[in-house]
Amino acid sequence: MPRRKADRVAALPPRSVIGILGSGQLGRMLAQAASRIGFRTHIYAADSGPAFDVTGAHSVGGYDNLVRLDEFARAVDVVTYEFENVPVDAARHLITRVPVHPGPKALEVAQDRIAEKAFISDLGISVAPFAAIRTRDELGAARAALASWGTPGILKTARLGYDGKGQATVHALEEVDSAWRQLGEVPCVLEQRIAFAFEISVLVVRGQDGEMIFYDIPRNTHADGILRRSAVPSGVPAAFEERARTMAGRVADALSYVGVLAVEMFWLGPDAAQPLLVNEIAPRVHNSGHWTMDACAADQFENHIRAIAAWPLAPTTRHSEAEMVNLIGPEADAWLTLAAGPNACLHLYGKREARPGRKMGHVNYLKPGAGG
Ligand SMILES: Nc1ncnc2c1ncn2[C@@H]1O[C@H](COP(=O)(O)OP(=O)(O)O)[C@@H](O)[C@H]1O
Ligand SMILES: [Mg+2]
Repeated sequence: MPRRKADRVAALPPRSVIGILGSGQLGRMLAQAASRIGFRTHIYAADSGPAFDVTGAHSVGGYDNLVRLDEFARAVDVVTYEFENVPVDAARHLITRVPVHPGPKALEVAQDRIAEKAFISDLGISVAPFAAIRTRDELGAARAALASWGTPGILKTARLGYDGKGQATVHALEEVDSAWRQLGEVPCVLEQRIAFAFEISVLVVRGQDGEMIFYDIPRNTHADGILRRSAVPSGVPAAFEERARTMAGRVADALSYVGVLAVEMFWLGPDAAQPLLVNEIAPRVHNSGHWTMDACAADQFENHIRAIAAWPLAPTTRHSEAEMVNLIGPEADAWLTLAAGPNACLHLYGKREARPGRKMGHVNYLKPGAGG
């Protein structure tokens, strides 16, 4: 039995209502997992989305609509969210009415790349070399920093970036200013572009008592800033995977985190001065954990719900090798062929329109009997 740090919070009984902010596919899969273990769900979002199809109750309202948020708070027993751009003020308001997990601190850190990198490096965890550009006055220092690391660099907006949006590659020092203009002269971070071997992510589940369990670490491949595939095992040597888990656990502890936390990392290889760098954190279930739906005893969605409901966490044990492939835009049009694939577990999000770059579903390809 894992050691418990405290056993104070009472578990939510079945039929309790899990409140979820956000109506996208992650909210949908959270609601499905919640219903599997006897909970009801109520989704709150600014716009309708694929999660509305699978929930007993939903509300449409702005995240600044305190009247609607109060109604929502009265209807639910706990609140969680499926995206990290929920305004911190909404979370802070809700928490005066009903428990909110993960707490607002995790949102605050994850919403701002400048705060995020400072928070992580203050924990003694390595990140890519970076410089903040909040105003024009900081351009010169950022250029000098990039000169010392060497080009190329990547400029990212501090807020509201996702799937590679709000980013620009900087090939030469002279391009720093124009890239900043191109991104709208908003606060940004300039980073060294890291020549990593590949990317991984650590999916940690932390309970309300501080217990932490981990999923096996996937290797992630991106194209055009969007996740294409996640495969387990990662191929990172076991001792370094252990190090990665320790780094992620330290972040989760420092945030007094409750739920699933994803920590994206760059793997540079065993001989690099810093073999692992943290790229960013996501205070929620994560696309790189979707393979857990078919390859593990209990998936990330169920464990997130268990954690926020103060239930015992369920085993993360993996029983198959797995590769998750995202279906982006029109790729999902091949659903009938995909549905017939051997050892292919098809998940579709029920979105109406297959816009380019939009995540429509995913397929988990399994190699049964090749467990961890
Ligand atoms: N400093 C970097 N060096 C090399 N590649 C990077 C760097 N920062 C981001 N990338 C690439 O771009 C992808 C998206 O960037 P990320 O910071 O994770 O933003 P988001 O996922 O919020 O769009 C990363 O997964 C990685 O493939
Ligand atoms: Mg990312």
